[in-house]
Amino acid sequence: MVNYAVEFIKEKIGNFKPEIGIILGSGLGELADEYCKIAIPYSEIPGFEASTVSGHKSRLVFAEISGKKIVMMQGRFHFYEGHPIQKVVFPVKVMKLLGVKTLIVTNAAGGVNPKFKPADLMIITDHINHMGVNPLIGPNDDNMGERFPDMSNIYTKEYVDLAKKISKNIGIDLQEGVYMAFTGPSYETPAEVRMARTLGADAVGMSTVPEAVVASWAKMKVIGLSCICNSAAGVSTVGLSHADVIKAANDAKDKFKKLVKEIIKEI
Ligand code: HPA
Repeated sequence: MVNYAVEFIKEKIGNFKPEIGIILGSGLGELADEYCKIAIPYSEIPGFEASTVSGHKSRLVFAEISGKKIVMMQGRFHFYEGHPIQKVVFPVKVMKLLGVKTLIVTNAAGGVNPKFKPADLMIITDHINHMGVNPLIGPNDDNMGERFPDMSNIYTKEYVDLAKKISKNIGIDLQEGVYMAFTGPSYETPAEVRMARTLGADAVGMSTVPEAVVASWAKMKVIGLSCICNSAAGVSTVGLSHADVIKAANDAKDKFKKLVKEIIKEI
């Protein structure tokens, strides 16, 4: 099935060979609108699903940014939408076969670290998979990766350091920390957020981990970037809403775009 999708896409993009993939999280899709060269709706691609979440478009966008060829997912598939986990990670396998070497995975997240404020950006240094599922379960495709892949350096350390250096140079405050994935779609309870903090998480969210695991397994370099959209439940007294999450992502989008463009330039 992955091969069908790849053949279909190659027919549309001709000799355009993306080297960097970006998965754009809630409210962060503008980068794709701005640079779009070729767009393919997910509904046309064999094996892709339509994203059902507001704030997400559903298309694969090819673009050139900072002189590099990019493929962007404008909208991702979440486990909480009811997709089997293999569907969630399917586009990452497609990107690999299109020639992508580095995957930038972005998301909207709740801040667990009390120092974080809404609209902060956080570079992900590591993650905790609390989704109760691993996307590599099932027969292993040995051509793509090994059965028991090492996850010691899943978020490429060299690129974490690079992102920190760049953010300093361009005057953007960049937080760093551990992302913990829950399935959603309900936000966490305050007790779950306290658990996350105790276990070493700085942010919580409902995505990213499956895609990062598959990309790392397939020997892609991974950069993870969270937009902290709210204080996670119980960290502040304010309640949570999707509208507030989208608003905070909107407030952060200019610095997000600036940082991503600079990272692309340097990798
Ligand atoms: N929890 C989980 N996912 C999220 C949150 C949150 O607080 N904010 C944005 N996405």
